[in-house]
Amino acid sequence: MATNTQTFVFDAYGTLLDVNAAVKKEIASFGETGEAFAGLWRTRQLEYCWTRTLMNRYANFWAVTEEALDYALRSFNLDQDRKLRERLLKSYFELSAHPDARDALRLLKAKGARLAVLSNGTNDMLQAALEAGGLLEYMDAVLSVDDLKIYKPDPRVYQYVCDRLDVTPEKVVFVSSNSWDLAGGSSFGFKVARINRTGGAREYEFADFHSEHRSLVELAELAQ
Ligand code: LAC
Repeated sequence: MATNTQTFVFDAYGTLLDVNAAVKKEIASFGETGEAFAGLWRTRQLEYCWTRTLMNRYANFWAVTEEALDYALRSFNLDQDRKLRERLLKSYFELSAHPDARDALRLLKAKGARLAVLSNGTNDMLQAALEAGGLLEYMDAVLSVDDLKIYKPDPRVYQYVCDRLDVTPEKVVFVSSNSWDLAGGSSFGFKVARINRTGGAREYEFADFHSEHRSLVELAELAQ
């Protein structure tokens, strides 16, 4: 029988982990172009996931992260700097957590919630980054799309949560900073909570976003 425990399922990159952290550490190389570089790396990384899924040419998230980084390095005429590439990838593998993540997980756990991650990241990337940020110890499960070889927001990926955790969709609060991911989770039937640290505009208006928060620690209000 499916469990009755309230389950919070978190997206990883952008939500628990700071996708700009690797570039921020290289401020000496980037200066004022850091933000644009990090933005290009991230948007291409996501785009390659979606286009590869549509083309039926799956490659794992580490591979698309490298492909996207190489494109960004070429675009900024930095592709000769192999040491920079190496440092960026090393930082990305153990990507820093957002400062609010650990407290939020501790608060939710104290309220008896079950906690899990559902991410496009590979199992190795997720274990390394969650461990480095002190988040792994709070997780009851870490689920990677790599087990399915399909990327979010395909509904089969959200279904994987229900299959693996033996939970019905309405018992899941799916937490993400990525609106496309929230739209996917909501369309599947999850209750979705948007983490909007930067005050970004609403999008995917066809989807039902249950709540919006400036910080992950506000999620404790949703725990029953
Ligand atoms: C994740 C990225 C894509 O799934 O946000 O963790």
